[in-house]
Amino acid sequence: MVIEGRNLIGGEWVSAAGGAAFESVNPARTDEVIGRFPRSGAKDAERAVAAAKEAFPGWRALSRIRRGEFFDAFVQLVKAEREPLADLLARECGKPRNEALADVVEGIHMAQYVFGASRMPLGEVLASEFAAKDSSVVRKPKGVMAVITPWNFPFAIPLWLLGPSLVEGNTAVFKPSEDTPAVGHRLAELMREAGFPDGVVNLLQGTGEEAGDPLIRHKDVEAVLFTGSFEVGQLIRKACAESEHRLAVCEMGGKNALIVLKDARMDLAVRAGLLSAFKTAGQRCVSAGRILIEEPLYEEYCRRFAGLAARIRVGDPLDPAMFMGPLINEAAVQKVTGYNKLAREEGGEILLDRAELPDGERRGGHFMGPFVYKLAPSPKSRVLREEVFGPHVALVPVRDLDHAIEVYNDTPYGLACAVATEDYRKARRIQRECEFGLGYVNLPTIGAEVHLPFGGVKRSGTGMPSAAALFAAVTHQVAWTVNHAEEIELAQGLSSKVD
Ligand code: UN1
Repeated sequence: MVIEGRNLIGGEWVSAAGGAAFESVNPARTDEVIGRFPRSGAKDAERAVAAAKEAFPGWRALSRIRRGEFFDAFVQLVKAEREPLADLLARECGKPRNEALADVVEGIHMAQYVFGASRMPLGEVLASEFAAKDSSVVRKPKGVMAVITPWNFPFAIPLWLLGPSLVEGNTAVFKPSEDTPAVGHRLAELMREAGFPDGVVNLLQGTGEEAGDPLIRHKDVEAVLFTGSFEVGQLIRKACAESEHRLAVCEMGGKNALIVLKDARMDLAVRAGLLSAFKTAGQRCVSAGRILIEEPLYEEYCRRFAGLAARIRVGDPLDPAMFMGPLINEAAVQKVTGYNKLAREEGGEILLDRAELPDGERRGGHFMGPFVYKLAPSPKSRVLREEVFGPHVALVPVRDLDHAIEVYNDTPYGLACAVATEDYRKARRIQRECEFGLGYVNLPTIGAEVHLPFGGVKRSGTGMPSAAALFAAVTHQVAWTVNHAEEIELAQGLSSKVD
């Protein structure tokens, strides 16, 4: 069945103003159309923002706890539908079925988190310099949020951003990736079924250029909450900088690494490396494109890692025996192919090249297997610094802990860092001296949990961590001081005499 999607604007399901539509296809078999969706433009963005703005006063006037209860209703619906949702997600974004289910579960967790948070403090009480004054801080919603999300976590990431935004009393225009509009559509339908009032969540389908661009420039958008590439994040940050007050919260790419120190447990370190490099076919912002291995372990690690990577099963995401599905689209295949070539040009010694699968073509989809190479660090290498976003990993020898830290930091990104070691002193140095937002010991670089801060440094993020900590970004924290004395006493000992 081909889904006929619409935009959701002020509670109405509507086509794009111009009537145009685009198709979503299954990346594992590109002759399968999943659905048709409105190809929105500036007029649609305008209507969606107007609907969100109109809904804002009524929504913010509700009790925060009442707003949280909509998420509880939503969770019940999603739980009942998690299996078909995981099927749809696997078909539309090509993640293996178990990863698709994990995406749905991560979305459930975020909705549960904000439901719980709705009964948690929304400010704090502080002391004043004067006993007769009570000072407090309260968070107030900002207004309309533009929520722009990637295809690789099409259910969880929208909830990371919509959850805190809505529970705090903001309304939103949600633009899913044009690669996963069907999952975005079902998410918006489920929010409607859960009872979220008209205009609180508006769905705007379409491309970044046509629908996203007018949205991020709209004067009534108070913040743009974005997860995606550095290049698009930069465009958003520039557009927001030119506005009078719009905030850009951007989670962008990574050139993450697992560091394997010489005392590491070999089995654990190899498994952590494979999961970091190849889960979601390396298409996570937290995937590791580099594994930095201390020299005494280097040769053995390379042999074992490449041996297991050679056995990874690549194929139909709905077949539970598969570890990896396809890449998302042809542009992704081209990009990864280019970086595989660059690895050769920069002197990489190729240990495994399964980019071309044995049965040729891309099996009717965008399939591509693991690519593994040895490469020593070099000050000029691009392939060791740039994000690939695919099943491509460099095994890099490092002399010692100091060298590992230096090489880890030698990229413009700083998102996820993992270390395999039994030595807590060395792990602590990694925690202190490597630049990242998410750190792991004896774990892969993937697998964050929703209640922890999720954000990066340098090119990876704007320094405004998402998930739980987003509560601060989507609100104004206002100070409120009440005087209980009949006289005025000013702070800093300033005299309040008038004449
Ligand atoms: C992303 O790749 O964009 O930590 C997010 C993880 C997931 C989120 C990844 N929970 O692997």
